[in-house]
Amino acid sequence: MKKIDKKKDIGNLKHIAFIMDGNGRWAKKRGLPRNVGHKFGYEKMKVVLKRCCELGVPVVSVYAFSTENWNRSKEEVDAIFGIVRDNLVADTPLFQEWNVKISTMGDTSKFPKDLQDALSDIKKSTESNTGTILNLCINYGGRADVCYAVNQVLAKKLAKVTEEELGKHLYGANLPDPDLIVRTSGEQRMSNFLIWQGAYAELLFLKQNWPSMSPKLVDSCITKFKKRNRRFGRVK
Ligand code: IPE
Ligand code: IPE
Ligand code: MG
Repeated sequence: MKKIDKKKDIGNLKHIAFIMDGNGRWAKKRGLPRNVGHKFGYEKMKVVLKRCCELGVPVVSVYAFSTENWNRSKEEVDAIFGIVRDNLVADTPLFQEWNVKISTMGDTSKFPKDLQDALSDIKKSTESNTGTILNLCINYGGRADVCYAVNQVLAKKLAKVTEEELGKHLYGANLPDPDLIVRTSGEQRMSNFLIWQGAYAELLFLKQNWPSMSPKLVDSCITKFKKRNRRFGRVK
């Protein structure tokens, strides 16, 4: 992305995270298979990312597959993995053009080899990009994240755990905490997303299903975020 749209001020927003929910319901409403919803969902993820790049948002996280999503049918799980694998590979030139750097959170070792390869290839080929970071949360769970960190702290044989020490070992420890978490589809829950990092995130719940997201909706989320009074325990 060469030009940043300076017309829209994003305030102190450094990291926006999306719980991309409602692909299945979006498809069902249209008499389509759930997997078609996932494909449209992926396309919408790109639209949202592009808008965030234009606005100069430093980090965009997307919840693409949770540790609980293994409970879905093998057919659906395979379809989601296939969509991620094929599209990430096909869209690599686009991510380069947008100067997007891709990172992941979650245990990717449980994935089919071709998906693991696609993820590591795209991380490698975009690692020197300096624009927006697209952080794919894939086989991600907040509880698994905390356990992963605790196990690393235990391996260091530390006598006690501090928030700071634990924070160093979480997935995405190099990223700022999310300032704003947006969930689509009308559900109002976290579903095990960024439970540590999102401790002080502003929350926004949209009625639209994820495939109905638009650049305008991204802008309106940011406008709402800027009106929030973030106190972090202080009195203002
Ligand atoms: C979100 O859409 C995508 C993933 C969880 C992978 P859903 O598949 O959860 O769609 P709904 O909630 O069933 O409509
Ligand atoms: C959350 O959506 C996970 C992702 C968006 C990847 P789900 O649809 O899996 O969440 P629940 O099951 O409704 O809580
Ligand atoms: Mg859902």
